[in-house]
Amino acid sequence: MRTVYVIGIGAGNPEFVTVQAIKALNQVDVFFLMDKGEAKQDLVLLRKEICERYIEDHSYRIVETVDPVRDPDIADYKTRVEAWHQQRSLIYEELIGGELEENQCGAFLVWGDPSLYDSTLRIIDTVKARRQIRFNLLVIPGITSIQALAASHRISLNGLGESVTITTGRQLSLGLTSVEDTAVVMLDGQCSFKAMIGTDLNIYWGAYLGMENEVLLSGSLDELADEIEAIRAQHRSRNGWIMDTYLLTKKG
Ligand SMILES: C[S@@+](CC[C@H](N)C(=O)[O-])C[C@H]1O[C@@H](n2cnc3c(N)ncnc32)[C@H](O)[C@@H]1O
Repeated sequence: MRTVYVIGIGAGNPEFVTVQAIKALNQVDVFFLMDKGEAKQDLVLLRKEICERYIEDHSYRIVETVDPVRDPDIADYKTRVEAWHQQRSLIYEELIGGELEENQCGAFLVWGDPSLYDSTLRIIDTVKARRQIRFNLLVIPGITSIQALAASHRISLNGLGESVTITTGRQLSLGLTSVEDTAVVMLDGQCSFKAMIGTDLNIYWGAYLGMENEVLLSGSLDELADEIEAIRAQHRSRNGWIMDTYLLTKKG
């Protein structure tokens, strides 16, 4: 039977790749890479670098496909994403069924960890549910951007016995997340932290975590919000893309 690995490769530093991931990489016949446009080309390159660096026998193949775009005519966010997942699941089915022979092994290399704001596992579940092809699924965990953020700032995520919320910029900007103790915010292209100014918070912000051009800022949110917004815009236009994550926590 075919085997499909979903391998967490860590959030940006090739040295985040775990020993378990390296062992799995060395089993793979075909890697499936999704090209998400020019701005994300760097992210595809990092995946290729990881393969070259850690795989001993270079007889593997890489199959690149173009990621379908989300349909802007679908107004509702969830419906739009679900339609996009559906399209992706057909592509995945074609890749697994068409590019792997029986008993071969394929892999999707997932940024950070597959369990965190990543749709690969959900899409593969849809493929399995359609029952057109049979395959074993194996998941290898990776170092998330949240762990990279905490390590770079040398902080614990939670206060003593307190909770941590993991959320998105969208949820924060819609007022759906309140910061009771600590909140980690991801996927925020809009600097949604500005909505929390005046609520007595500290921010620990990091962009390009684990990479050569990592940028870190921390301190009072009220004092840093404008600076983070400006630095973010600067780096984004210089590199063509940015990935940033931050932690908000009650002062004191
Ligand atoms: C689609 S989610 C993927 C998260 C990933 N699965 C993980 O485990 O970190 C992408 C978001 O993760 C965060 N992120 C991922 N890598 C990052 C990095 N190296 N530096 C800062 N933020 C990062 C950003 O908030 C980005 O918008």
